[in-house]
Amino acid sequence: MNHSSPIHRILLIGYRGTGKTTVAQLLAERLGWPWADADAVLEERFQKTIRAIFAEEGEAGFRDKETLVLRDLCRLSHHVLATGGGIILREENRKLLKENGFVIWLRADPQTLWSRLQEDATTWTRRPNLAQGGIAEIEELLKIREPFYSACANQMVDTVGRTPEEVVETILATDKILTRENGPRTTDS
Ligand code: S3P
Repeated sequence: MNHSSPIHRILLIGYRGTGKTTVAQLLAERLGWPWADADAVLEERFQKTIRAIFAEEGEAGFRDKETLVLRDLCRLSHHVLATGGGIILREENRKLLKENGFVIWLRADPQTLWSRLQEDATTWTRRPNLAQGGIAEIEELLKIREPFYSACANQMVDTVGRTPEEVVETILATDKILTRENGPRTTDS
């Protein structure tokens, strides 16, 4: 997407535990836009948890649904959208991301991600079959995924040592197009 024109949609990508959902919410607040989380939309639409979808239909079944949801979300204007960590695995999704919004990649190192995932109670209830391999699994998946995150991203933000609020400040401070065209709104405006 050519970002010399105003941005109408922001898509957050990155591994589990990078804070996409929280950052989406906070960034949307600052811009005065609505926000959505693709995983939550998917669970609502199919009336099943991601865990159940993986168990019943395998990863391929989940990925098909994930693409359907992404296509729908890419029609929403002036939204901040958090996506699932594996969204970049399919070429069709990468194309959708690149063509439909300003893509921000939230990144962190494997050790930080592992600590965060251990602290997140939903890791075990929502995604048990993808989070049991510890740091080794994260390292292995990042090796595959980072080139894809990088290829889709218009901006990369390191989340290590930063709170979600600080990540949002970093996005707004470094992103000239976003700031110039869309605000940001201050809390009292
Ligand atoms: C996945 C990450 C999850 C969810 C699904 C698969 C992955 O999203 O989409 O469990 O492949 O990394 P979050 O990144 O929001 O946890």
